[in-house]
Amino acid sequence: MNYKLAVLAGDGIGREVVGEATQVLQQAARLYGFSVELEEGLVGGASIDEYGAPLTDPVLKLAKESDSVLLGAMGGPKWDGLDYSIRPERALLALRQQLGLFANLRPVKVFSALTSASTLKREVVEGTDMLVVRELTGGIYFGQPKGVTRLADGSERGVNTEVYTTPEIERIAHVAFQAARKRRRKVTSVDKANVLEATELWRKVVSRVHQEGRYEDVRLEHMLVDNCAMQLIRDPKQFDVMVTTNMFGDILSDEAAMLTGSIGMLPSASLGGKVGMYEPVHGSAPDIAGQDKANPLATILTVALMLRHSLNQSEAADRIERAVEAVLNSGYRTLDIQEKDCRAVGCREMGRLVREKIEFFKG
Ligand code: IPM
Ligand code: MG
Repeated sequence: MNYKLAVLAGDGIGREVVGEATQVLQQAARLYGFSVELEEGLVGGASIDEYGAPLTDPVLKLAKESDSVLLGAMGGPKWDGLDYSIRPERALLALRQQLGLFANLRPVKVFSALTSASTLKREVVEGTDMLVVRELTGGIYFGQPKGVTRLADGSERGVNTEVYTTPEIERIAHVAFQAARKRRRKVTSVDKANVLEATELWRKVVSRVHQEGRYEDVRLEHMLVDNCAMQLIRDPKQFDVMVTTNMFGDILSDEAAMLTGSIGMLPSASLGGKVGMYEPVHGSAPDIAGQDKANPLATILTVALMLRHSLNQSEAADRIERAVEAVLNSGYRTLDIQEKDCRAVGCREMGRLVREKIEFFKG
């Protein structure tokens, strides 16, 4: 089997972490008897510098014609002053929309070696294992009308619109219920139904899908987003699958990331279209870019998700995840998860250590 992959490393630490992760991918291919053809493309700030736009047609075409897309991170202070329509982040939103990736899966699993790296107490985070299912192509990120207009008195008015239609909610609800069936069979749907009509509809439709979709083996509960933000740090173990809107999912998944000790640990998969897109949850971290300080584990774990969800190589995925855990158990840490009595390593060395463990595990 040969897979064609689009590799869009992007900006900042994106290049460094993707570099380590693609080496893991090549290694998995060699060990499991398939091959990968990597084609690189510029996106985000790197594309703006070269072509004047964050996403060009050839790169979009490359992504559409690949079996899967591996993405690094986009953005940085250099491009912050640009108009919203051509900011680096636009490339990400356009790729999600153009590829029809409405379901963003963000697994939040606390490795036991890292329970004291979290800012929360060990007994609170230990054993946390949840999946955030974030709606990714709708809601306030894409709703119309939007923009900033000038009013007659010279002041300005900024607008964004939260919009959800029944089919958009139905399809993401199905993703959540089906994911829950492979886990602990509980779904928490998060909304702000006490104030926002669009999410009142969300609640109603999720309940209906639960009933009509015959998911009676899955327990459904509804939670208001403010309460959810609190419950996530009060008792994260109560969650199995969390399903929520684009913006709430953006915010809650960063919060959930900190349960694991660092956002540098969180992988994600964006699905729903013909091609899946895989990216770490963290950003481009311009403050540490190019210094070999980044944590490549989120992107390496992202490669594991790609192998499992798009390339049908779940054994390779398991092996990578076990190798990451083993490296952490051996006491190696990048800067973001550094602890007393642990060995500090850079991005490249962390990547090498994981590959060494992968090689060492048999089967
Ligand atoms: C994420 C990021 C993006 C988002 C940004 C970079 C546009 O924060 O993937 O969570 O808001 O979706
Ligand atoms: Mg985010």
